[in-house]
Amino acid sequence: MEKFIVHGGSQLEGSVNISGSKNASLPILAATLLTREQCVIRRVPDVSDTNYMLQILQNLGAEVERASGTVVIRCEKLRSHEAPYDLVRKMRASVCVMGPLLARHNRASVSLPGGCVIGDRPIDLHLRGLEGLGAEATVEGGNVHLEARYGLTGKVIDMSGKHGATVLGTDNVMMAAVLAKGTTVITGAACEPEVVDLADFLIAMGAKITGAGTPRIEIEGVSELGGVEHTVIPDRIEAGTFMVAGALAAKDSITLRRVNPEHLTSITEVLRRCGCKVEVSKTTVTVSRAANPVGANITTEPYPGFPTDMQAQMCSLFAVTPGTSVVRDTIFPQRFMHASEMKRMGADITVDDGTAIIHGVEQLSAAPVMASDLRASAALVLSALTAKGNTEISRVYHIDRGYEHIDDKLINLGAEIERLPA
Ligand code: EPZ
Repeated sequence: MEKFIVHGGSQLEGSVNISGSKNASLPILAATLLTREQCVIRRVPDVSDTNYMLQILQNLGAEVERASGTVVIRCEKLRSHEAPYDLVRKMRASVCVMGPLLARHNRASVSLPGGCVIGDRPIDLHLRGLEGLGAEATVEGGNVHLEARYGLTGKVIDMSGKHGATVLGTDNVMMAAVLAKGTTVITGAACEPEVVDLADFLIAMGAKITGAGTPRIEIEGVSELGGVEHTVIPDRIEAGTFMVAGALAAKDSITLRRVNPEHLTSITEVLRRCGCKVEVSKTTVTVSRAANPVGANITTEPYPGFPTDMQAQMCSLFAVTPGTSVVRDTIFPQRFMHASEMKRMGADITVDDGTAIIHGVEQLSAAPVMASDLRASAALVLSALTAKGNTEISRVYHIDRGYEHIDDKLINLGAEIERLPA
């Protein structure tokens, strides 16, 4: 296990290249199971979650080669239709092999992922959708077994739940439906850019999909899909995290390269409301620190609303922004593990019922803190950048799950961070 020592007070300048999206890569990697032919996927970030997904695919029979961001996968023959607990427990997104396995094999057996530190993470909507296409689901020994004895058949499938649409649930049903008989209409579909990237990947493979990026996706089943080359979209959450780093600690400004600013609209809008200057070009975003920073009230929402995956990082910004800010997470109301760690650094945060009320203080002070999940860990790194003293952040494997070399990227911008064995 490794830890970071972040020496607070450095000022950031220069530019950073944003990696390919982790959350787009994961379902796209799973979708390679839908064809016997070779797929080449570029800009897959080198993070532990994509490594776990590749291990799962290899376990299922895929041949995988990986070199500097490009992954070549060929799954000529499925060796198994089971994703076992020791791999699934490491990464919840492994549930997105259910759809492709069912489509290709008419069977899937995936260990139930269980809850996680950001709260209850049910998969009832995934199962409801796959059952709607003709699969039968049974749960036994902690595994969910899905079988479509007569194959999958297109239907109208409603994917909306009480917290809105489900991203990976939409992905699973879309991946199952591409090889189903007839037409599937997904209503209440998630509109996230990662869903659109998966749809683009599937379309390039030969799938017939329209409406991705809207709440109504229509899929006409085809009998076969082929190999494809694809470049994953930029990671909008990594980008958002660096935007907050700029808002907190830029000497003047920092520039993010290789981004899609359209995907960053809600984050840009909030940072501007907080007084930051955010300049946008076709593939770059430049963020300057606010001359007169002010707090804000934000509520997480499905895309294009403010992302839950950026909520913790905004808490870091608000912790040192004058005035009172309110952060409400409607998607994962229990996702506030970072708050208690930030309090150890002197933040004034009260969390109740999915809402954090933050009174900005002048400066945080270093303390030993513990990373608890991916975005909470990123938030602690951000807080440590401006804290007084040297912050020790343990369990940084959480951050390595989803950020490609975050320490090196911040060091290149001028931060002082050491990665040490714990
Ligand atoms: C994706 O998870 C992302 N993960 C998450 O990012 C992200 O926080 C989340 O979408 C919301 O944007 C990946 O893409 C790999 P959901 P997903 O199903 O699809 C409820 C990160 O930090 N729900 O859209 O699993 C659920 O409890 C990660 O990178 C059900 O009730 O999330 C939540 O309240 C963490 N039943 C809401 O829907 C279900 O069957 C949205 O969750 C499924 C979900």
